[in-house]
Amino acid sequence: MSTQTPAASPSSRDGFSSRFGVFAATLGSAVGLGNLWKVPYLTGTHGGAAFLLVYLVATLLIGLPVMIAEISMGRKSRANAVTTLQTLAPTRGPWWLIGVLGMLAAFFILAFYSEVAAWIFAYILKAIRGEVISSDPTVTADEFTALIGDPVQSFLWQWVVLVLIGTILMFGITKGIEAVTKRLMPLLFVLLIVLCAVSLTLDEAKAGLEFLFKPDLDELTTSTVLVAMGLAFFKLSVGMGTMMTYGSYFKPDQNIPVTAFRVMCADVAVSLLAGIAIFPAVFTFGFVPEAGPSLVFITLPAVFSQLPFGQTLMVAFFILAAVAATGALLSLLEVPIAIFHERLRISRPRATVLTLGLLAAPATAAAFSQNLLINWQVADMTPFVLFDYVSSNIMLPLGGILIAVFVGWRWGWPAFSVALSNEGQLRNQRLARVIFTLLKYVTPLLVILVMAQGLGLA
Ligand code: PFF
Repeated sequence: MSTQTPAASPSSRDGFSSRFGVFAATLGSAVGLGNLWKVPYLTGTHGGAAFLLVYLVATLLIGLPVMIAEISMGRKSRANAVTTLQTLAPTRGPWWLIGVLGMLAAFFILAFYSEVAAWIFAYILKAIRGEVISSDPTVTADEFTALIGDPVQSFLWQWVVLVLIGTILMFGITKGIEAVTKRLMPLLFVLLIVLCAVSLTLDEAKAGLEFLFKPDLDELTTSTVLVAMGLAFFKLSVGMGTMMTYGSYFKPDQNIPVTAFRVMCADVAVSLLAGIAIFPAVFTFGFVPEAGPSLVFITLPAVFSQLPFGQTLMVAFFILAAVAATGALLSLLEVPIAIFHERLRISRPRATVLTLGLLAAPATAAAFSQNLLINWQVADMTPFVLFDYVSSNIMLPLGGILIAVFVGWRWGWPAFSVALSNEGQLRNQRLARVIFTLLKYVTPLLVILVMAQGLGLA
């Protein structure tokens, strides 16, 4: 367990120890239930390829520049998200509130995300026991409804997940986050490729691929564009200080734009591979892609039951999802843990316990959203849905605008270019200029426009 003293000086600060470690941990944050649960169901409910296309454009024009901005800020300051903003803007303005907003977003996301992870972990066991194998989706739907409708199971599985992640984090950055993600990420790719290979042999593989890759632009509405942009933020874990926090553990000689670009490509690849694994199977067995959030829990088990070795493949799929959820949850919890550890000068284990304690209320509200609190709704949304909607469609885009504005108008070009070139070691000024211009003008304007339209304000 990390024995490092609280708020250690930058030189003795824990951090990622190798290039692959940096990549695996950052990719581990980006790849998560977003790829296997959100991207497929949002693509399914928002018209397929056209939605994917908007998501890809938002990823490139908005998500990637903000990711690069966050990582360079974190690496420059070598501190948690709140301190990073304080350090980089020591005199004027309450910029540090961006860090606080990010921490709040982390709690909101953790609350519902840990519940979806809870269902995933529960499904591993159910799949091993053969409980959810049936070609009849009404049977698989009953299984899922029984799980989420049971407050005790929803609550307990959530805490199994949270305690597991909290325990890994107590070991620190090198021995905790890096050690785990370095082993899990390759496993994730292997499992995913096996599932894709099986799916592509199915009769209706072509229909599934067309749904994914042949855009019908008539399907696009402004609220679809807002959802696609929210997804771009959520997917790359940006707009809330996660990448700032991970950036503070980056090595000084790590090439930030190249690493961020690779992470983005690998993340998009995982989403596309997940789509290739899921949609051909959905079409082949006559299901509809618009099933919504339950796609993974109801439709997929019914699909697996019709495949050769279906049960084994299903166990593999839910292990894959659990692996993905683990890397993302580590980074989500790390945001408040780093803040409490460094600012309150308490040890990492204590900061972890404090974070989990504060998370208990919103997490429980999310766990009970499908049962005890089902009638507790704000604007027709249960706490679970509300946390998801507010974080993805409001808090992350807002955080993204503020971070872009901060870099473009406050931190400024000289500091940004020095940070991106590793203090002049890399010759990437032209690239840095493009990214800086995107951050200064394009990102804030685009995000404001999409938010205003999507939220019905313009
Ligand atoms: N990027 C993760 C996913 O797609 O599942 C979710 C996530 C992790 C969002 C960490 C935000 C974050 F800070």
